[in-house]
Amino acid sequence: MQVCFRIQRQAPDRSPWVETYILDVPPRATILECLNQIKWEQDGTLAFRKNCRNTICGSCAMRINGRSALACKQTLQDELELLSSQNVESSTDNLASTPIQMEIGPLHNFPVIKDLVVEMNEFWTNLAQVNPAIRPQARSIAEGEFRQSPAERAMLNQVGNCILCGACYAECNAKAVVPEFVGPHALAKAYRMATDTRDTTHTQRIEQYSQDLSGVWGCTRCFNCNTVCPMEVAPLDQITKIKAKRLAQPEDEPSRAVRHRTTMVELVAKDGWIDERKFGLAVVGNSLRDVKGVGSLIPLGLRMLLRRKFPTRFEASAGKKTVGALIRSILKL
Ligand code: FES
Repeated sequence: MQVCFRIQRQAPDRSPWVETYILDVPPRATILECLNQIKWEQDGTLAFRKNCRNTICGSCAMRINGRSALACKQTLQDELELLSSQNVESSTDNLASTPIQMEIGPLHNFPVIKDLVVEMNEFWTNLAQVNPAIRPQARSIAEGEFRQSPAERAMLNQVGNCILCGACYAECNAKAVVPEFVGPHALAKAYRMATDTRDTTHTQRIEQYSQDLSGVWGCTRCFNCNTVCPMEVAPLDQITKIKAKRLAQPEDEPSRAVRHRTTMVELVAKDGWIDERKFGLAVVGNSLRDVKGVGSLIPLGLRMLLRRKFPTRFEASAGKKTVGALIRSILKL
């Protein structure tokens, strides 16, 4: 079948542009095979990464028809089925057009070096920030090795599938706006480290991963990472598990991030929705114990007062009993 590839190209000395290439290829051809054919037969200057051609190395991640994916995994047939299942005008136009169009571009959230090749230094730096190696310091080595039961090893299977392709990182809304956020790839690896029975520093790790916006509390829960991960690692699920471990840790003085979570649940359970006056004082002002935090709220309060947006009254939700009962039943699970 005839396919028109519209490839976003980029070079250091000029603005990005789109180049089109027409191919005659079978539906079972992968996007990577098509790119190879373009490079070998039509345009040797086209740059993209590849290595294993078998969804192992993670090199060939790129944006394919508007989302991050592995070029060696997606066939033309896969893409056509995906486009026809997305009941949007552009895809319908695409399918009706001859030849069929495939939109290819570089990963988002990475600087582009050339065409589809991106620079991944920060991606690797972010991974290193979560200390992605087992730390068995305090344990003596029994029989010369650290043994795990099949059940203990099975707990690592899902995150162990990560091939560090960068698809989740490229689609991460939090990474796009909070530069210090380490990204879903790093936090999926972090969960693996905080679960591995050979590691003796789980408590410190959970503390580290949930300190500020660089860790799990920086995640916006947009679900993009779960959606695009080609290996079904589900980074958001791993982030959520780290949060659950953090909330289960006993602590004398809950951090602001933990107060944010617990206060929200308490207020909604009580009134059905959030009384924002109480929310700010409890989270930022630590229920008036943090004088500096309370002081930081004053400029915002004054601005709201001036614009007559300060809520002087609060009315609980009409459905507060139902909401409260739902939350309490979930908390008991
Ligand atoms: Fe290795 Fe695609 S070439 S994952």
